[in-house]
Amino acid sequence: MKLPFKLDYLLVCLTAVVGIGCDHRAADMTEAKTPSAHIVPVPASMDVVDGELRFSAVIVQGGAAAPNAVRELEALLAGLNISTKDAAATPIQVQLVDDPALGEEGYRLVIDDAIHLSARTDVGLLHAVQSLRQLLPAQAQADYRLPQIVINDVPAYRWRGISLDVARSFLPVEYLEKHIDRMALFKLNRLHLHLTDDQGWRIEIKRYPKLVEIGGASAVKDGRAGYYTQEQLKHLVAYAQARGITIVPEVDMPGHVQAALASYNELACDDVSNLATYSGVEVGFSVFCLEKPDIVYPFVRNVLEEVVAIFPSTEIHVGGDEIKHPLYADFVARTTRMVDDMGRTAIVWEEGSVADMKPNVLLQLWNDDYAIDAAVAKGHPLILSPCSYLYIDHGNYAGQPGADWCRKEGVPLKRLYGFDPAPFKSAVGIEAALWTEFVHTDASADDHLWPRLAAVAEIAWSPAGQRSYDGFVQRMGALRPQLDAMGVHYYAEPDLGWADAKPAH
Ligand code: ACM
Repeated sequence: MKLPFKLDYLLVCLTAVVGIGCDHRAADMTEAKTPSAHIVPVPASMDVVDGELRFSAVIVQGGAAAPNAVRELEALLAGLNISTKDAAATPIQVQLVDDPALGEEGYRLVIDDAIHLSARTDVGLLHAVQSLRQLLPAQAQADYRLPQIVINDVPAYRWRGISLDVARSFLPVEYLEKHIDRMALFKLNRLHLHLTDDQGWRIEIKRYPKLVEIGGASAVKDGRAGYYTQEQLKHLVAYAQARGITIVPEVDMPGHVQAALASYNELACDDVSNLATYSGVEVGFSVFCLEKPDIVYPFVRNVLEEVVAIFPSTEIHVGGDEIKHPLYADFVARTTRMVDDMGRTAIVWEEGSVADMKPNVLLQLWNDDYAIDAAVAKGHPLILSPCSYLYIDHGNYAGQPGADWCRKEGVPLKRLYGFDPAPFKSAVGIEAALWTEFVHTDASADDHLWPRLAAVAEIAWSPAGQRSYDGFVQRMGALRPQLDAMGVHYYAEPDLGWADAKPAH
């Protein structure tokens, strides 16, 4: 059917704007006509009207009950030198609305002759601000054009996360702040910190100062040592909360504990001779002496009490991976119950499913083929981190130096994007993991995290029917300046057309 020109053209624009199956010629036509709308994760619903809003100054109205969103909005406007002082300028209306369809995190963004942000919560409004940030250019201009648009957006999953292993190699507070800002840009909302492992103990526990004096001073070979004080962690918790992100702490037990054994030797069985700190990359060799419950369980309880006092997260991760021991299931059962007694909900890695636990304990799935059905039948919700899709310590491409034990070909962007969470009916969401045996600098962390975390965000936020790799490639490709503006040392992903461009760094 031959469409009348205007409708034909509008369809091209719509196709380009939602980023599905659009060729370059169409995209170029769109660019000339209407400012483009590249948003990652792609919204649940987005209608583009054939028009634009031009402005050089704005006036922010409302938002008194949404302090975090207003702060983020004002920072965005200030960064683009957009004046907010002129009462006659284009309004940006910030409004809390009682619309149950928006849930805890959904939002509405309407651009007509003004900009309207609405949500039920401050967090929802934060997400609206991030969508607006992506619609705007990353650098200041004399004036601005936005497409006229109606977005109604809610996340598919409530858990959209990344786990950072700060135990093998430490990541400084300043890096974590920047990382939180970058997560927020893509509406990721869970930062899981793997705070303890064989190679290092990174969280100050006041009752056991040697944990950081000894355990905090070690690291994987060529990695960074260090630890966070409780004050620093409380600062990070607040910094993340103000950006809609929950920090989920992990104390990995009863294995992966050489740093703790080296700090407090009595936690080891009496026949264990190697009580030195460890800088290798092996796993599965250290374990608390579960035959000494009078020593181990008071330690675990005391540590967890300080952990829950720092982190308000409902969920507290107690590890449980890669250890075989006759008393393992008993340890996991007792430890998850302890967390429950403290008014929180435990997360354990998938192996913990052998323990007798309350059904609300979350299981984090990390081996693609792990037999999890029996645990799911008992009611345990899942966090999905199958390593062959979501372990992004693995290469961006086959042969990139670093981890490859789960998948020799690495975890390229396209592979990751292809992960389908739908078969896991009890999943609360998706979490990628950056282990740091071979990732020792901020720049290397960036190279592994970005742009792959943007793909994690999209598969966790966007409904399956809206997602396509081609659309993602087009939209994410266009958002490169946003990552440049944030100083991200991302991998110059060829699929996004970034490899041929002048390197940003
Ligand atoms: C894990 O990768 N050991 C959770």
